[in-house]
Parts: sequence; structure tokens; C-alpha cells
Amino acid sequence: MKLAVFPSSIETSRALILRLVELMNEEPDRIFNIAVSGGNTPALMFDLWANEYLDITPWNRMKIYWVDERCVPPEDSDSNYGMMRNLLLGIAPIPYENVFRIRGEAKPVKEAVRYSELVKQQLPYRLGWPEFDIVLLGAGDDGHTSSIFPGQENLLTSTSSYVVSIHPCNGQKRIAMTGYPILNARHVIFLITGKNKADVVEEICNSGDTGPAAYIAHHAQNVELFIDKGAASYIGDVSKEIH
Ligand code: 6PG
Repeated sequence: MKLAVFPSSIETSRALILRLVELMNEEPDRIFNIAVSGGNTPALMFDLWANEYLDITPWNRMKIYWVDERCVPPEDSDSNYGMMRNLLLGIAPIPYENVFRIRGEAKPVKEAVRYSELVKQQLPYRLGWPEFDIVLLGAGDDGHTSSIFPGQENLLTSTSSYVVSIHPCNGQKRIAMTGYPILNARHVIFLITGKNKADVVEEICNSGDTGPAAYIAHHAQNVELFIDKGAASYIGDVSKEIH
């Protein structure tokens, strides 16, 4: 697991965009299947991407999928797809057919099956699971990642790539990528910013598999953590790794 700490959430987001572009430039003949997360944290990154990095990004070599989606229509302010479309995808010259949204407005169980099948058709398979090139994750202050919440660890070993999960506090239904496809990804990158995430970052860095985010961070391949100083508050001396 590689850790990169930056002074602010803006610098963390910028560094992550540059890292993604770098990964794509390292393999100029590859189409990158990238699964993105939602929530609040990536909004800043999407906004910066649209405003500062459109020109250096190989949009025609990117296919965008979602790690998870809230079961709401795209116009709802909770929609992960809607947020990324408004901030980035509606602005970037990415081919329309390269964006594969989870239909939050559809019947959840049916949509989880449809999206698992779509991913199966679109992606190469390795070890019996779809192989994303990059899975971008966030983490909740409760230790969740994707929409796999503490207490739902059975979803880490689900036999489906996507399932319906339920937010334990507000009961909102979600469609979530499960454990095996995340572990099978070629690169797993976490973006975690803010002091309220300091505990979960501390668990990821210093503890055992205390929650879904820590489990994934400890068991996935090529894991990179992009965090800001606030999120790094409890992990001791990381000065050598601060960029
Ligand atoms: C979602 C996400 C989720 C997110 C974390 C962090 O739909 O909520 O994809 O897994 O990454 O909840 O969310 P925040 O950035 O809003 O704290």
C-alpha cells in the first residue's frame, strides 16, 4: 500500500488526477476501464479535472463505470452519476458510449443483475471476475467503502459483482460493487480527505481488517491512498511521504 499525503484537498485531488493520467500514459495502447465512486469527496476532483486537465487526458481511451450508486434518478442531488455528469462528463470530450451508468431509478435488484451482466460483457475476465484497470474508492467515517457498510462484510465475498445494499442510517438503497471485483482490479486508489476521516485512515494504516475500507486496502493489489493532512492527522509521522 502506497500512501501520499498532501497539504490540502485541492492538492490531493490534483495529484490524483495527474496519477490517473500518468497510469494511462504508461500504457498508451490500452483502453482503461475505470470505476468511480461518488459521495462528496470526488466532487472537487471532478471540478478541477474539468477546469484544469481536460487537454492532457486521453478521454477516448477511458470507459467509465461506477463503483456504487444511490437508488435515485440522475436528477436527484444524491445521484453519483448526476454529480459526475454535471461537473465533468458533460464537459469532457468523452465518447457518450464510453459512459456506463448504474440506473439509480430502476428496480434495484434487477439493476444490480443488469449491471453485473453489463460489466461481464464489457470487461476482460481474470480469475473468474471482471478486471477493472482502476477502481477509485472513497471511505466513510464509519469505515465503509463502495456501499459496503460495517456489518455488511458478507458483501465482500458475494458471488455477484454488484448487489443491492442498504445504508444503515437512512435506509437508502444502493447498488454496490462487491469485494471480489474490487480485489481483482489492477489498481485500487482511495481518495480520502478531511479531518473527519482521520480515524478511518488510521485504521487503514495501523490496524487490522477493522471495516470494509480497511479490508479492501489490505487485500487489494496496487493500492494507493491519496489523502490530505486532515485525514492523515492520526497516523503519526508521515513527513517522508508528504509531497
Ligand atoms: C457513495 C460512495 C461512497 C463514498 C464514501 C465517502 O455513494 O457514498 O461511493 O462509498 O466513497 O461514502 O463519501 P463522502 O465523500 O461523501 O464522505
